Amino acid sequence: MTEQQRFDERIAQEIAIEPQDWMPEEYRKTLIRQIGQHAHSEIVGMLPEGNWLTRAPSLKRKAILLAKVQDEAGHGLYLYSAAETLGCAREDIYQKMLDGKMKYSSIFNYPTLNWADIGVIGWLVDGAAIVNQVALCRTSYGPYARAMVKICKEESFHQRQGFEACMVLAQGSEEQRQMLQDAINRFWWPALMMFGPNDDNSPNSAQSLAWKIKRFGNDELRQRFVDNTVPQVEMLGMTVPDEGLHWNEASGHYQFSEIDWHEFNEVVAGRGLCNEERLAAKRKAWEEGTWVREAALAYAAKQNL
Ligand code: ACO
Repeated sequence: MTEQQRFDERIAQEIAIEPQDWMPEEYRKTLIRQIGQHAHSEIVGMLPEGNWLTRAPSLKRKAILLAKVQDEAGHGLYLYSAAETLGCAREDIYQKMLDGKMKYSSIFNYPTLNWADIGVIGWLVDGAAIVNQVALCRTSYGPYARAMVKICKEESFHQRQGFEACMVLAQGSEEQRQMLQDAINRFWWPALMMFGPNDDNSPNSAQSLAWKIKRFGNDELRQRFVDNTVPQVEMLGMTVPDEGLHWNEASGHYQFSEIDWHEFNEVVAGRGLCNEERLAAKRKAWEEGTWVREAALAYAAKQNL
């Protein structure tokens, strides 16, 4: 049996591929790309929420938000470690992100303008992330699948705290209700874009599905998110900013309007509202953290003497 045949057999039998196993070079590259982008998303994703740490409306909300932002940092670190098991250096892929040569999720290029945005990010953005990541708990690469299990548990807490924060606003004053609706209006479509292009325009999907890196197509997961979430919007007494949205009795799903793919492509190409600001913040943090990295390395070297 050749190495390729052994690999194919493990994929067919749902036996995880582990770092020491032989794997096709393209499989390795695809995983480094996806896990790397995922890690960058977790790290860049701290910025829109970090923006509200000093302005949270109460000590309780501040403590919750601080814990959530720290969780995202932890997710990034697990994912960089998972990527490193594939033979890449974390500094290398991080530098590629800083240079704009590796992507991170489009969603984090939108600004957080009011407090309701923080609730809506927890509820919709982490909610969308969960739909995508629960599926990845069964991805074919062992270290990625195992990282996803813990990450999903934490994302689930994030999603619930976000919904609870939105529920408080929904039961508040007229001004608070308007603030919530405004946040839903701005984040609904970008949350749907998190699932990526339609399957017909997704260059990586077919091969990633065959390798069981992805377990479902982008459209199926997006539909699952819409079906889960529309009743939650209604429960809050809010509306979805999509006049074409309706329940389709025949398909048993909500039918929604076409996504603005021009906007999606612009954001992914680096021309979204906050792309420059996000990368500038990460570059500044990297430069200002030089002394911390040097001190940590010097300390580690001393311990090894
Ligand atoms: N934002 C930025 N780039 C995107 C997005 C998005 N929302 N959706 C797709 N893309 C990119 C892909 O990375 C790919 O780029 P590349 O080939 O130049 O590297 C290109 O657009 C084409 O898309 P697909 O062929 O569909 O790419 P892929 O098969 O990788 O599917 C998906 C995209 C669904 C995002 C997949 O990579 C995935 O499941 N990633 C893991 C989850 C993740 O990264 N989540 C991040 C947000 S959640 C959070 O951090 C809280």
